[in-house]
Amino acid sequence: MSAAVADAVVDRLKEVPSAVLMLPTGTTPLGMYRRLVGMHRSGELSLVEATFFNLDEYLGLPPDHPASYHVYMKENFYGLIDADPARIFVPNGAAEHPEAECERYESAIREAGGTDVCVLGIGRNGHIGFNEPGAPFDSRTRVVRLSESTRRVNAGDFESESAPECAITVGMATIFESREVLLLASGTNKAAAVAAAVEGETSESVPASMLKKHPNTTLFLDEDAASDLGRGVAG
Ligand code: F6R
Repeated sequence: MSAAVADAVVDRLKEVPSAVLMLPTGTTPLGMYRRLVGMHRSGELSLVEATFFNLDEYLGLPPDHPASYHVYMKENFYGLIDADPARIFVPNGAAEHPEAECERYESAIREAGGTDVCVLGIGRNGHIGFNEPGAPFDSRTRVVRLSESTRRVNAGDFESESAPECAITVGMATIFESREVLLLASGTNKAAAVAAAVEGETSESVPASMLKKHPNTTLFLDEDAASDLGRGVAG
């Protein structure tokens, strides 16, 4: 799965070295990042012309907080490749005025010409970015309240064993406007969300289901994440 999605990203970068990428954090994309870093190290891949936007960041975490997505991205990707720091964007969770930060972030995406490739993970509840169930399909970058289930799943990343209550996330419409979407899912704990997104109704209660309406979306699933497909279990 990681190799296939890394190859898809590299294909786009070969066509358009200045591509604008939107990227996720979490466990699922780690293999993809490892592979891209390996290709960079062996001289096969330069990312110097690309622009990077992250999907989300916890509200209230400064960029040097060990559980922040700034640190995750630096340690797993941006710090290991030849990315131009001027073209790396991660929402500032510690901004004094979070609403203004969201507007600034959305404008930066617009000024970059929108995103060419958006790589997504999926939450067990079907979230994409931190667009939790119920997120409006026309939403933009904004402050959101995380669901209790997402906070529980992510609590282990925090010394306090408690995840922040809120985050900044790009919106559903912002994701939808990406010219290409690649969604990754691995493990049985994603099987129900994948089946609901693919085979259930298109509904704001399963954010990833919106991607059925997107003209250029590909799902990269391991067997476990695909194991509920075709069984008629989706609502
Ligand atoms: C993180 C993000 C989230 C994750 C999702 C899956 O930037 O946007 O939507 O992709 O919560 O996380 P993992 O991969 O840890 O299961």
